[in-house]
Amino acid sequence: MTAPYIEVAELLLRLKNCVVLTGAGISAESGIPTFRSKGGLWEKYDPTVYASIEVFRKDPSKYWQIRGDFIRDYDSYEPNAAHRALVELENLGIVRQVITQNIDGLHRKAGSRRVVEIHGSLREIICQQCGRTYLAPNIPEGNPPHCACGGVLKPNTVLFGEQLPPEALEVAIRESSTCRVMLVIGTSAVVYPAAHLPVVAKQHGAKIVEINIETAFPDADHVVLEKAGTAMARILEAITSRRTD
Ligand code: OAD
Repeated sequence: MTAPYIEVAELLLRLKNCVVLTGAGISAESGIPTFRSKGGLWEKYDPTVYASIEVFRKDPSKYWQIRGDFIRDYDSYEPNAAHRALVELENLGIVRQVITQNIDGLHRKAGSRRVVEIHGSLREIICQQCGRTYLAPNIPEGNPPHCACGGVLKPNTVLFGEQLPPEALEVAIRESSTCRVMLVIGTSAVVYPAAHLPVVAKQHGAKIVEINIETAFPDADHVVLEKAGTAMARILEAITSRRTD
């Protein structure tokens, strides 16, 4: 079922209390590759090798080797129309929380204030030995890069085999279980516990709107099969035109 933008706009205006779950697809139009879409990062690299904490501990150069294929220069990417629409919806009192699996920092760069980054952020790079934090782009060169103390540096992101930051997960679960609408944007919804959040929202009575170029979440109440930037801009337009009617 494909929902017209107006139907989704009316749902958001009526129910408000919207929580948004985003994945790599929302940043695709900003030039950042996804993981599992065609041409995605995991087509070229095996995540159980290149994104595993176990392997990182033995040979951190594997992780650092692919990092440049994903995000080469952290500060050079710009938010797109979808990130910007979510800021407007927060300003209008419709979106109350963004939960993102993305580590690219683009929601905050766009201006969203209530953002929880459940897989961490590439902005902070932490020494595994002394705990010193470096902020991108000011991180030492090298594969792997080393801290001034000689320790190996690791971004403050979640690798496979690591726990999610507990406070972030707590916020994500609380927000998912109390929202009235959840927008699920650009995620394949296969990595847990993030993939469970729309299920939690639905179990607590929220309506689920999926925005994706192909459908990934089978229990969505509405599906908008469109690029995130186009879909969100149109939904925002429908909301603002209704508010001034
Ligand atoms: P995926 O790469 O698994 O999924 C991207 C989704 O975005 C797919 O469903 C695409 O159809 C959709 N998509 C692609 N381009 C789009 C566009 N322009 N507009 C809308 N949708 C689009 O990315 P995630 O679901 O975010 O984990 O992956 C989840 C986690 O797996 C990531 O956070 C990362 C990865 O391994 C960690 O790093 C721990």
